[in-house]
This record gives sequence, structure tokens and C-alpha cells, in this order.
Amino acid sequence: MDITKEFIENLPKVELHLHIEGSLEPELMFELAQRNNINLPFANIDEVKDAYNFSNLQDFLNIYYQGMGVLQTEQDFYDLTFAYIKKIASENVMHTEIFFDPQGHTERGIEFEVVVNGISRALEDGRSNLNVSSKLIMSFLRHLSEEEAFSTLEQALPHKDKIIAVGLDSSELGHPPAKFERVFAKARKEGFLVVAHAGEEGPPEYIYEALDLLKVDRIDHGNRALEDDALVKRLVADNMALTVCPLSNLKLCVVKDMVTHPLKEMLDLGLKATVNSDDPAYFGGYMNDNFLAVTKALNLGKDDILKLVQNSIEASFLNSNEKQDLQLRLDIFASTTCF
Ligand code: HPA
Ligand code: ZN
Repeated sequence: MDITKEFIENLPKVELHLHIEGSLEPELMFELAQRNNINLPFANIDEVKDAYNFSNLQDFLNIYYQGMGVLQTEQDFYDLTFAYIKKIASENVMHTEIFFDPQGHTERGIEFEVVVNGISRALEDGRSNLNVSSKLIMSFLRHLSEEEAFSTLEQALPHKDKIIAVGLDSSELGHPPAKFERVFAKARKEGFLVVAHAGEEGPPEYIYEALDLLKVDRIDHGNRALEDDALVKRLVADNMALTVCPLSNLKLCVVKDMVTHPLKEMLDLGLKATVNSDDPAYFGGYMNDNFLAVTKALNLGKDDILKLVQNSIEASFLNSNEKQDLQLRLDIFASTTCF
């Protein structure tokens, strides 16, 4: 029997790849622009949505950095983050691990503390009021220099209690992981876990570098691993998770259409693939829409879907008791739900 929309909606889910600045909905963008006296280059919400047509990653990033300009105060970062947690709570997401891009804000003169405190306070309220657990990952912008990344890492050190890991995002081509080998070594020495976007637009070599030089705990995206059989074998043997983002891949032309998305192939090869929303306000959907899109296009079955969530639980940065608790919630759902 076909998987129903209701099955996806009720499925307890875990998200591992979400840029909090990419959850800025046009409605909130306008509200914050008004609150902070900022002129937007759009007359209304429809104009904003019309601008969300991208041919590649850089097209998107240009609009993404422009959009985050409305975020000025700690309350703005709180409102952004709490709106996202509220949304995913309504979608039965049990746990989320979110990125933030401090350099997108400190470059504009916003204090690191303003950003991290606003986001963390909302995550805390999400935990206590909405029962959504979370972890925070600080991403370095790879189009900026190694020196700027080092200085950002320095600013993060007093906030180790709030930040579990560091990541690497922004324009991939021309900015290989090797550029940040020393920063990541320092971050690991300071006790941070590490992840990196690799193989979204960049070649398989970038994934090797993320593994060998940055020593990542997960690969974000990783689509282009499929071009290299030896790399696939290694990722399977290492049980290395890939945080795949289907609607993002479609919107940024990483795949031509959803029917050719490699997610099912990844699962069949034994790769630890997971489903995530990346920048849901820009790419047309949160977790449910991502699951629905791949389920329909790739004809996924119940076992595929449960495996995807189980992969996310295992690849999360929760401790083993917390993982067991989420797995139990998933098992109860699986055994009590007809489909
Ligand atoms: N790739 C790289 N950088 C990003 C992305 C992405 O999908 N989203 C936000 N920053
Ligand atoms: Zn991403």
C-alpha cells in the first residue's frame, strides 16, 4: 500500500541539516524589516517569493545573505529560532541540530553574543515548552579566509556550553575543505564535534578532504559521492552519515527532477542517508514536504522511511540514552500505525 500523507505527518522525525537563517519566512522578514527600519528591495511577500528562483548554490546564497540583514537584535534571533521550533513541533520533529552562520552577522556589525544568545534562548524554550530537543552547530563561511574562521572560533570558545559542533558552508566550488584543515584541528582540540558541507556542488575529492583532513563526524549533502565507487564503499564501511536535503537539491539544480534524486540509491547501497530541509523558507518545505517529495518521486516504502529516521537518530549528536528514547518513540509509532 502507498505511504499516506498522514503517515509522514505523524511520523516522529529528526532533523540534522537546517540553517536557522534559511528558516526566515518572508512574513517574518517583513516584520523584522519594519521593526528595525530596514528597507527591503521587495514591495511585498509575493515579490520575495518570485525572487526565489535559483540556478545554483551561489544564486541562492546571494539572496540568503541579503535576507539575513533584517536580523539585528537578540530578540530577532530569538523570534526566528522559536518560529522554526514551533513549526517543526507541529510536524512531529522530536529533535533538531541546527546551523548558524555567525560571520553573516558579525560582518554586519552584530555581536557574536547577540546571535548565539538569541538562538540558544529560543532552543531552550523549545525544549521546555514544545518538547523539541536540539543542538547548535556553528558554521564557518568557506568563501571567507582561514584567518577569519580562526577569529570566529575564538569568539565561540566562551560559548562551548551552547555549541556542540562546527561546520563548513557557503560557496563550495573553489573553497575545498583543505583550506580549513588547521581551523578544524583547533576546533576538535577544543572539544567540538565537526561536520562539513561536501559534495553538494563540489567533486568527490572534497568529500575525501572532509574525511581525511577535517575528520568530520558527518558529511552534509554528499550527493557527489556516488560518482566514486571507492568513496561509497568507504562511507558505508565507516558508517558515515550523509545529511541529504531533497527539496534543496531540486531548487539549487543539484538534481534535475525529484524522480532522479539519488536518495533511494544511497539507501540501497547501504549509505547512512538522512532527510533534512536545509533552508526551508527558501526551498519550499520543511521536513514533511521533504519526506513527501521523495516518498512520492522515488516510491519509498515504509521500511525505507523508518530507516531514514533511524539513520538520523543514530547520526545525531545526542547521547546513547537520548538516542534510545527517540528510537523507542519511533518503534512505538511503527508498531501502532496502520498504513
Ligand atoms: N549549501 C552551502 N551553504 C549553505 C547552504 C547550502 O545548502 N545553505 C545555507 N548555506
Ligand atoms: Zn546546508
